[in-house]
Amino acid sequence: MTTLPKPRQPELKTSLPGPKTAAIMERDSQHLSTSYMRPYPFVPDHGEGVWLTDVDGNTMLDFFAGIAVSTTGHAHPHVVRAVQEQVTRFTHVCLTDYPQEITTSLAERMVRHVEKPGEKWRVFFGNSGAEAVEAAVKLARNHTGRSHIISTIGSFHGRTYGAITLTGSKTKYKRGFGPLLPNVSHVPYPNPFRPPLGATAGTCGQAVIDHIEGLFQTIIPADEVAAIIIEPMQGEGGYIVPPADFLPKLRSLCDRHGIMLIFDEVQAGMGRSGKMYSFQHFDGQNGMNCQPDIITVAKGIASGMPISAMLAKESVMTWPVGSHGSTYGGNPVAAAAAHATLDLLEGVVKHPGCGDSLMENAAQVGEFIMAELKAMQVEFPFIGDVRGAGMFIGIEFVMPDGRPDGKLRDAASMAMFERGLLNLDCGEAVIRISPPLILTREEAATGLEIMRDALRTLK
Ligand SMILES: Cc1ncc(COP(=O)(O)O)c(C=O)c1O
Repeated sequence: MTTLPKPRQPELKTSLPGPKTAAIMERDSQHLSTSYMRPYPFVPDHGEGVWLTDVDGNTMLDFFAGIAVSTTGHAHPHVVRAVQEQVTRFTHVCLTDYPQEITTSLAERMVRHVEKPGEKWRVFFGNSGAEAVEAAVKLARNHTGRSHIISTIGSFHGRTYGAITLTGSKTKYKRGFGPLLPNVSHVPYPNPFRPPLGATAGTCGQAVIDHIEGLFQTIIPADEVAAIIIEPMQGEGGYIVPPADFLPKLRSLCDRHGIMLIFDEVQAGMGRSGKMYSFQHFDGQNGMNCQPDIITVAKGIASGMPISAMLAKESVMTWPVGSHGSTYGGNPVAAAAAHATLDLLEGVVKHPGCGDSLMENAAQVGEFIMAELKAMQVEFPFIGDVRGAGMFIGIEFVMPDGRPDGKLRDAASMAMFERGLLNLDCGEAVIRISPPLILTREEAATGLEIMRDALRTLK
């Protein structure tokens, strides 16, 4: 009988934090911005695939990918080669003034995933998610000649002035920073697990649509609204998937009133949900369309190299020459990493053990993780909800009466970390599972076993 090799496990050589980690964290606390949070004592030294090793030699399994960024894992050889090759050619020219083939072809490649017959798209490149969001809002205002923007409660769109104004998840992002952007309103997000507006899981999508139409009758003239910006799957707010009818109905509402629909795909996009863009889970279903006018992407686009993109329909990208730009946006080294990431996402280059493409792997291994987590709800009644798509998965912790249990979530998150599983919270009481998309079923099973072990200590 052959015995299968034991799958790789986290390896903790010191107690956490180890001595080198503690020393760096002490220096970090002396010299870095007081705004940085340091919830987990971990200082990375190097990574390989889904594994990260700290400066003390402790190796952890990565279930959060630097907030849904490290799509291809750590130090993927294909990405490393692409970056090295580009660095030796040239590292900067300035895309605002000079074209460069590597970003031209990246734009051509990105729009292919969203274009429909008879409809061309264009791309503006920035460096971060917030910059893509700023560009989207500027374009919507410029194109429509209107000023009002509607966003959602629970949303996160970034930390620049426009982006924090749109953000609706936590007041700490805004306290002490005002005045913010004028003419921005927030409406509820249709969360089927905690339906807003007195609705049910099945009716909350329509309830939010009715709420917006009500605002147009009473408070906000619809013909002054430039855009509605929304995460098709809400990230920071708790990894929430809206009901299937909602985004198509929102598309129709925008069409009725000449409003631009912006989908912020910064966290859920770039293959994480098992499709290139998360709205594509709803577009074309039952004959309903929810193609947006503008899309923002960042995070997972280049495996950690800083680049973002704002995609818009050609008919919408009407801002004049020179009206928007960026010194570094579309940097060729980051663009090379984005090409290499897309190679793996699309399956042009295969990653061993991950099927035809990383997107397919995200869908299949994500489905396995979701099924296992749902099964865990029987043993752990404090897991109130498991939701998501692909490797965009949220686990919500609840009190016996169903209210969100943030304290229990914090304890669970730390217990997982102490057992060698890097993870991250979101929302009021949610742990997000957003691993590198190269995670195999075996590695997923290892992570799930660590989670089970950690949750048992909380019972
Ligand atoms: C949906 C969404 N939009 C925008 C941002 C801002 O991205 P960045 O931090 O790169 O500016 C984030 C970051 O978490 C996000 O999740």
